Amino acid sequence: MKVGIDLIHFATSDYFLGMDTFAREKGIDVNKFYIGIGQEKMSIAPPDEDIVTLAAKAVEPILQQIDRQEVTAVLFATETGIDQSKSAGVYLHKLLNLSSRCRMVELKHACYAGAAGLQMATAMVKANPQEKILVIAADIAKYDQNSSGEATQGCGAVGMLITANPRIIEIEPGSGYFTDDVMDFWRPNHRTTALVDGKYSTKVYLNSLKQAWEHFTEQTGRVFDDIDYFCYHIPFTKMAEKAHHTLIRKVGAKLEKAQADAKTLPGQIYNRIVGNSYSASLFVGFISLLDNVKDRLDNKRVSFFSYGSGCVAEFFTGIVQPGYDKVLMSDSHRKQIEEREELDYQTYLEFYYQTDFSQSNLTLPQHNKGPYRFCGIEDDKRIYC
Ligand code: HMG
Repeated sequence: MKVGIDLIHFATSDYFLGMDTFAREKGIDVNKFYIGIGQEKMSIAPPDEDIVTLAAKAVEPILQQIDRQEVTAVLFATETGIDQSKSAGVYLHKLLNLSSRCRMVELKHACYAGAAGLQMATAMVKANPQEKILVIAADIAKYDQNSSGEATQGCGAVGMLITANPRIIEIEPGSGYFTDDVMDFWRPNHRTTALVDGKYSTKVYLNSLKQAWEHFTEQTGRVFDDIDYFCYHIPFTKMAEKAHHTLIRKVGAKLEKAQADAKTLPGQIYNRIVGNSYSASLFVGFISLLDNVKDRLDNKRVSFFSYGSGCVAEFFTGIVQPGYDKVLMSDSHRKQIEEREELDYQTYLEFYYQTDFSQSNLTLPQHNKGPYRFCGIEDDKRIYC
């Protein structure tokens, strides 16, 4: 039985900061961002946008196409948690009118948890083909001001419906994985921003790719040439390019740059103008490939490399299903990205510093243009409207 992604949709915030504005304010040559790390814009969440509102925006168009009462579980991957106990999915339960006969759980391991959720959901559907599972990956990437990571912020959410006989991609059995206890990126409980050893993190990412790839080939017997398109976790697009060239060197493939680029660049177009969305980033890349590649993808094999700092990595593949393009929501993705409002630097700083979320009572001014808003806190309870 085939199991995989039946529907997929992505959401981001209503605002972005241009890397040209960022570079001017910081007194840095903009080409460091355009060329050096490969980023043009980063989506910025206003204080009244959080992972719940982003996730609701990502998932609602999927629910409009099915009977939402049939969703049996929500696996919500995030490292931007809003509560230490209650899972973010339960807030969605009310906002999106899901069935009470539906399980909710939040998953965490840095950027890896979305891939973990996808693999878990696939296994659950294989065990019981009646299951219809929503996997959600949603994050807001936020670093300290003037840290190396500040240029690699962003935000986004991806919703994926995992079912038997999927219309978009079948997730293939077998994968390669790798874990190592390293301190390349982490966020202690008292902090709202991540700490990062930036250059070290890029080395750990590339080593994890090599290790997960070796395990993948041992487990599946598949080789580099069996894969038609490559999707990587994208903290910034240059990282994905480096990853692809590292893999090419590792397997000794003889490819012209243009041939190599054709297999990865369509999967970076959205990430270049959205920024890092941590657990969602790999799947934003997959959506970017689906929406932007010129050739048809029917029956093509796509690989996914998920990397979560700390670190856990996984390499796996899927087969794009014939007629997949009939159920893509490409127009909605493009519209959201295009309709974002550009921030000036002062407003970026206001969004960054504006609010102390540790207050028990708080009313937030409206910046988020909807359809779902985080409107404030009453007696330590988050209120959505
Ligand atoms: P940096 O110190 O700001 O930049 O750190 P740099 O000086 O290394 O320059 C970056 C590149 O731009 C270099 O190219 C420069 O040569 C080039 P490279 O040597 O890398 O090929 N450059 C220029 N190019 C053209 N014109 C110019 C110019 N100037 C410089 N004028 C760093 C970069 C990535 C470390 C920083 O952005 C950072 O700390 N980012 C956050 C950490 C990160 O994203 N790590 C990625 C791997 S870890 C990961 O992916 C997991 C993560 O998503 C979290 C999770 O799992 O939850 C982060």
